[in-house]
Amino acid sequence: MTVDSTRQGDGEARGAPQELWSRVDDYLSDLLAPSDEVLDAALGASETAGLPAINVARNQGRMLQVLVAATGARRILEIGTLGGYSTIHLARALPPGGRVVTLERSPRHAEVARENLARAGLAEVVEVRVGAAVDSLAALASEGAEPFDLVFIDADKESYPEYLEWAVRLARLGALLVADNVVRSGSVADPAADDAGTVAIRRFHEVLGADPRLLATAVQTVGHKGHDGFALAVVTGAR
Ligand code: SAH
Ligand code: DHB
Ligand code: MG
Repeated sequence: MTVDSTRQGDGEARGAPQELWSRVDDYLSDLLAPSDEVLDAALGASETAGLPAINVARNQGRMLQVLVAATGARRILEIGTLGGYSTIHLARALPPGGRVVTLERSPRHAEVARENLARAGLAEVVEVRVGAAVDSLAALASEGAEPFDLVFIDADKESYPEYLEWAVRLARLGALLVADNVVRSGSVADPAADDAGTVAIRRFHEVLGADPRLLATAVQTVGHKGHDGFALAVVTGAR
């Protein structure tokens, strides 16, 4: 992928795209999504524990919080916990009595997340389920779990089409589905890119566009996390 960084417009050298994107992320986050001790501690503990820094950015976490508040979601399903950074954002926007179920394959990631959530005072609000997400999703279905109002998909990209299927099945009519990393530096639209993750994300978009029960879109993002994007879908149930 090439980005023409020589087109500056106003003669000011703004720097290479990634540097510029990061600076704007900092600018926006400092004003709109300031961090706090709990969020800083969560990232610090995750780093100390050697977890990869693939959590959502501050302003993206705040976007999740906005979406929870806007939809009035009371029951949230998250697929892919890591250290619980996005989870804390989701849980903070819940009304009293609300709940997050978050799925994580790695016992170590789950342990770090539980500590971060406890420090955030959210231990009673969030249930971390350890295991391959497809197994946990099947278990939720067979338990007859109460339908979810919002689902955030953010685990292994290869399984996104499967996660979408489960999300629709476990969500109520009118629920909001959100998926991270659906652009992958533009690889989705690069015919030469054929890694398993990209192929699966393409399939995910195809299903999103073709499933008559979903009203969906996807938008690109740039920032600390490079060039990527979020998909958004409402389960309308219309056929
Ligand atoms: N939502 C987090 C980031 C999640 S990173 C945040 O923004 O803060 C993706 C996570 O999904 C990793 O912790 C990884 O261990 C987990 N994961 C990968 N494959 C999985 C699977 N098959 N089932 C459940 N979790 C999985
Ligand atoms: C990866 C996963 C993510 O959820 C993300 O936001 C960025 C990167 C990854 O697995 O590399
Ligand atoms: Mg992600």
